[in-house]
Amino acid sequence: TILILDFGSQYTHLIARRIRELGVYCELLACTVKIADLKFKPKGVVLSGSPYSVYDVDSPHVDPALWTLGVPILGICYGLQEIAWTKGGKVEPHDKREYGKADIQIRPGSRLFAGLPNDLTVWMSHGDQLSQAPEGFKPVAYTATSPYTAIEKEEEQIYGIQFHPEVTHTPKGSAILRNFAIGICGANANWTMASFVDKEIERIRNVVGPTAQVIGAVSGGVDSTVAAMIMSKAIGDRFHAILVDNGVMRLNECQTVQQTLQKHLGINLTLADASELFLGRLKGVTDPEKKRKIIGNSFIEVFEAEGAKIEAQVEQEGKGKIEFLLQGTLYPDVIESISFKGPSATIKTHHNVGGLLDDMKLKVIEPLRELFKDEVRALGSIMGIDDELIWRHPFPGPGIAIRILGEVTPEQVAIARHADHIYIEEIKKAGLYRKISQAYAALLPVRSVGVMGDKRTYEQVIALRAVETKDFMTADWFEFPYDILKRISSRIINEVQGVNRVVYDVSSKPPATIEWE
Ligand code: XMP
Repeated sequence: TILILDFGSQYTHLIARRIRELGVYCELLACTVKIADLKFKPKGVVLSGSPYSVYDVDSPHVDPALWTLGVPILGICYGLQEIAWTKGGKVEPHDKREYGKADIQIRPGSRLFAGLPNDLTVWMSHGDQLSQAPEGFKPVAYTATSPYTAIEKEEEQIYGIQFHPEVTHTPKGSAILRNFAIGICGANANWTMASFVDKEIERIRNVVGPTAQVIGAVSGGVDSTVAAMIMSKAIGDRFHAILVDNGVMRLNECQTVQQTLQKHLGINLTLADASELFLGRLKGVTDPEKKRKIIGNSFIEVFEAEGAKIEAQVEQEGKGKIEFLLQGTLYPDVIESISFKGPSATIKTHHNVGGLLDDMKLKVIEPLRELFKDEVRALGSIMGIDDELIWRHPFPGPGIAIRILGEVTPEQVAIARHADHIYIEEIKKAGLYRKISQAYAALLPVRSVGVMGDKRTYEQVIALRAVETKDFMTADWFEFPYDILKRISSRIINEVQGVNRVVYDVSSKPPATIEWE
């Protein structure tokens, strides 16, 4: 394991991503962690960047025990400055802030840059820089403005670099991280999803024990499906998946998901059809946050009722008790909760339905909590889940209720579903589904005038949304070829009754959001 200590840089999670991509297992912890509290002995430690300056009074510093741990250390950006600050170098604000691409020169002989050319393009983002290296440290890379872009002390295996190898703007960044993690630390590159799945199944069997039962909600999305699949492989029918039909899923979605999970993947699944309950409660409601609350609360209610039914059945059959709740938490959420919060920490809103645990007194089981999204996809693939499901766009919990502006009636649901279905079908036909991060049709609560044959129409508007994004925090609208938009528009207007106008949403996030509500 490589340990990454986070000082609050916006790029820290990318260090973890890049190292995992090398097949090396790594974990991220806050920089303030006590070395004595570590549950594992790392093969090496990476110190991340930070929005702080090492000389700020409240700037974060590592536990001094790190320096005597006896494993290689790589400092990145602030991490380099932390090394210098500790070891007696000099860090100063530079009059010219280095931000963006920079060309650096490497002095031959450094193991960190082994096998790389002597001049590299890298990504910089820092105000402070090293003006004097600590004693015994060799400068191994420099730029026109900085003599200490990289330094090292081979005897102590301490390395520092001013630039960010973890971002894609540093083309040889992965090679540098490989040189560190595998070459210098000697970490094993044996982290694969194939090895993960066997170990995780074993772990779940141990945690759950021989008789306890587990319940969990599935939606047809990749995370919940992969999590359910692992549970099902680990404990078979002692895992009970619950799919709640809230009446605002996409066209035929519940049936398709049920079919796939039950028949194709062999998961023990119960479909709770509560569409009438949800639509009844949504009647007359137009406020987006109210819609979310109604759907969220009703979901918990239906899920708990279904869980209680399963529990009664299980007990009657004398098969043990439901003791665990499966959750599809991923590593980015874990990182979000454990990383060091600097002053510029991003504030992320969590949309997922919570609150289940307090009521049900269940223990949580989270098979995906160590994984990034692409690792979950790879895992799903290994377990035989279809590409179609693995690459499905994310779909919000409140479903198309927040894509129908105004009141959500069964008629509006039918229109929105039909238009959305055509839209997604055409996107898939054009081979663009995987290029787009998220796409959907929104139904607007306005009517506009049109003409059909020689009749005047007065009907509703569909707004098409398609965005490209990496993290869903910022997004660009997708540039469709016009002929595809043309085909989508004419199909929707011709085939969907009640719609006479289609518009395409050309707003990026921010300031717009991805959803219309
Ligand atoms: P926004 O609209 O905030 O969406 O740009 C960002 C991402 O979050 C999804 N989203 C939700 N997901 N419950 C969810 O489970 C919600 O209430 C919710 N609102 C937005 C949205 O689909 C996009 O992927």
